[in-house]
Amino acid sequence: MDGWTGHVMKKTSRKTTTTSFTISMQAEAMPLVQTLQLTEEDEPSVFPKAVPWKKYSGTHEGLSVHVVVPGKDFNLGVDSVGTVPVSMLTYASIVSLHPDLIINAGTAGGFQSKGAAIGDVFVATQFANHDRRIPVPVFDEYGIGTLGATPIPNLVKALALKEGKMSTGNSLDMTPEDEEIIKANDATIKDMEGAAVAYVADLFTVPLIALKAVTDIVDGSKPTVEEFLENMSTAAAALSAMVPRVLKYVSGKKIADL
Ligand code: ADE
Repeated sequence: MDGWTGHVMKKTSRKTTTTSFTISMQAEAMPLVQTLQLTEEDEPSVFPKAVPWKKYSGTHEGLSVHVVVPGKDFNLGVDSVGTVPVSMLTYASIVSLHPDLIINAGTAGGFQSKGAAIGDVFVATQFANHDRRIPVPVFDEYGIGTLGATPIPNLVKALALKEGKMSTGNSLDMTPEDEEIIKANDATIKDMEGAAVAYVADLFTVPLIALKAVTDIVDGSKPTVEEFLENMSTAAAALSAMVPRVLKYVSGKKIADL
């Protein structure tokens, strides 16, 4: 499905005042928190005590800005990446912060055959899943779960951003089955959260922009993990350089004018 779902359209006529960033890795979030001079929330938390989620807030370009991260896994101490933590965090953020725009920022693998290069910052034009294989009529389509992105043609043009369809799964690597579905999804970028954030944003009709910096070339010759770790800080720097420009452009505009 191209374009975007009709009911999202309703929330685009008022000016943007509150933007919430969902970011899954702390190393991706911190350069942004520093660039935007956000501060970590004091007690009491807007989130339940039991969860490791963190929120950093402040104002930037006249916008109220929140960066929310799913925090560290309690058992293993690593970032809570993947679709389940980010969908819960997105839900809780919508309910407690009432953002009129969500930006899912982070890293992605990119396909060089579709024009991606290391350090590029992409805007997703469509969201879909590649690890939800349900070969039963109609459930197959539900599993893929394609959703259109909020159109932002003026913003893309003004900041000369690259655009491409995104495919989401809970694995950093890619099995042959994943690859087949990613190709069917016509994806330029591959991540581990976007389609989950899009699902929740769509449920609550909140406009969503996904901004993803490329850390590794999925159809290249280097091993994914090695390339991902090598380029993580380059990608985080590219993101934190782009975000203030995005916020400046968004500030005071209606989503429909982006
Ligand atoms: N994030 C960064 N690189 C990725 C990849 N290759 N797959 C999924 N998520 C990623």
